[in-house]
Amino acid sequence: MGARIVVAFRVFPHGAPHASRVRNRFPAVARSKSSGRWLQRHVNDPYVQRAQKEGYRSRASYKLVELNEKDRFLRPGMRVVDLGAAPGGWSQVARRIVGDKGRVIATDILPMDALAGVTFVQGDFREEPVLERILDELDGDRPDVILSDMSPNTSGVSSADQAASIYLLELALDLAGRVLKPGGAFVAKMFQGAGSDEYLKALRAAFNKVSVRKPAASRPQSREVYLVAKGFRGPAAG
Ligand SMILES: C[S@@+](CC[C@H](N)C(=O)[O-])C[C@H]1O[C@@H](n2cnc3c(N)ncnc32)[C@H](O)[C@@H]1O
Repeated sequence: MGARIVVAFRVFPHGAPHASRVRNRFPAVARSKSSGRWLQRHVNDPYVQRAQKEGYRSRASYKLVELNEKDRFLRPGMRVVDLGAAPGGWSQVARRIVGDKGRVIATDILPMDALAGVTFVQGDFREEPVLERILDELDGDRPDVILSDMSPNTSGVSSADQAASIYLLELALDLAGRVLKPGGAFVAKMFQGAGSDEYLKALRAAFNKVSVRKPAASRPQSREVYLVAKGFRGPAAG
């Protein structure tokens, strides 16, 4: 069904010749008003336009750029793990900053087109074998920074979605507890809601300084915030 719509656009780039007749006969158009509004907002979004111009794969890149401008957790030569990396915007930013002497290991449940200088592990981060593959890639080297922009697929049941998102955050913090370099940084997206206060408390116990940020590229209506935790106290404190 989706493919047929694409074909119609390609065949009639300036609009189908009988478009108005089709509209009259099929007044209930397939695309809902809200998805039409989303598309309009997306196309007009200055961050989407900027990402296209500057060669970033996602508007999300600018969230990481802004977080790092403020909190300075990425530096040349660092080793970085990027959880929930696809399509690769954060990995691009991280790679540009850490440079050839640094290392970026990215992972996502979805495939991601290759990025020069970025090692990609595809799989569900909730599964043990995926964690094992990330640990294999690290090969005993502790990363300086762990990033997580993971958001679970939404089910529409907000309590279940919130629980799923906190669970991913817990797994990310568990990875940090196992492998992050003492003094290292952890930056993660969190949706404010059930479990978020407890999560913040756990993060504050494990790091010297935790800031809650809302970058300009994060849509104001979204409950997402970014947690920037610096000064990892080491595995024993986690
Ligand atoms: C907002 S996107 C990340 C965007 C990315 N930071 C960028 O700049 O391009 C969230 C990602 O989390 C991934 N994700 C969700 N659940 C996951 C899981 N269980 N394991 C791995 N990745 C997951 C999704 O597939 C999605 O690509």
